[in-house]
Amino acid sequence: MYSDFKIIKTTSPKSRPDQNNLGFGKYFTDHMFIMDYTEGKGWHDPRIVPYGPLPLEPSTMVLHYGQAIFEGLKAYKAKDGSIQLFRPYKNMERINISNTRMCIPQIDPETCVRAVKAIVDTDRDWIPTAEGTSLYIRPFIFATDAYLGVKPSSTYKFMIIMSPVGAYYPQGINPVKIYVESKYVRAVKGGTGFAKTPGNYASSIKAQMEAYEKGYIQVLWLDGIERKYIEEVGSMNVFFKINGEIITPSLEGSILAGITRDSSIFLLKKWGYKVTERRISIDEIFTAHKNSALEEAFGTGTAAVISPIGELNRDGNSIIINNNEIGPTSMNLYNTITGIQSGTVKDEAGWIEKV
Ligand code: COI
Repeated sequence: MYSDFKIIKTTSPKSRPDQNNLGFGKYFTDHMFIMDYTEGKGWHDPRIVPYGPLPLEPSTMVLHYGQAIFEGLKAYKAKDGSIQLFRPYKNMERINISNTRMCIPQIDPETCVRAVKAIVDTDRDWIPTAEGTSLYIRPFIFATDAYLGVKPSSTYKFMIIMSPVGAYYPQGINPVKIYVESKYVRAVKGGTGFAKTPGNYASSIKAQMEAYEKGYIQVLWLDGIERKYIEEVGSMNVFFKINGEIITPSLEGSILAGITRDSSIFLLKKWGYKVTERRISIDEIFTAHKNSALEEAFGTGTAAVISPIGELNRDGNSIIINNNEIGPTSMNLYNTITGIQSGTVKDEAGWIEKV
């Protein structure tokens, strides 16, 4: 079906992990997709090969200066056996936004989606079907010149690997505890905050570890200048429901334009909620909580899907949101989005792409 790509099948398929114990990103399927870029020649040699290690020179540029980008999307097996992708063109649009910021050459979104379909089709038997599971797809591009000067590489690899996954957080859909970060910052306008580039995640690990030691799963980032306005959580965008209105930080260059964020805004508006994208300060959240106006808080992301926030701690001052229970808005969003993704809820917006 995707015979325009050269396919070399593995001769030693791996055994499948237990679907009820997948965790996130621990197991990898039998194959991977690779395509090379060479200056003057463009993207070339798309191929599917057995999953395995890459021979890289120690001087490979990405290892030194981090010129790379990545994406995340998921494949689901519907009840009728068909395979569904959720808004894959959005990911490929975002790849090129990240590429531009990181001086990586543009890539044809159509080829990328076709590559995703081809690799998913090759490893279709790896898509888990247990409740709350999916096949996580990780496209990424990295600089491959063997060179130590700081400049854009003249060669790159575009690759796709895949991992059968369960919930991102051990809590599953249950509310998570989040620490409001006051010491470290993630990004500032003019930086790379809006791009999906590894450095944003590397620099977040220190804060995440310190929060983890205090018993919190991730941090809520505040803006890098005034340390006042809410940006995003480690691996998700964030929403608050205050007096019935849904508020989420506006996209002003330092946070990621999440696809689950966009889908949630669309659905919430369709359901009649007032949804506002604006700057929102952490003080406003704590005041709303004090006035009993903060009804729900939740994160959105491909890996995290919809994740209710049950507790926020700011400098030792902790607030419990919605009795640490899953709120009705978070629950509806979770059920609707996962339902569309897995084919049990009608895809009215045309978000599903079949493999
Ligand atoms: C995703 O949600 O797909 C992401 O890329 C977040 C990642 C840090 C797990």
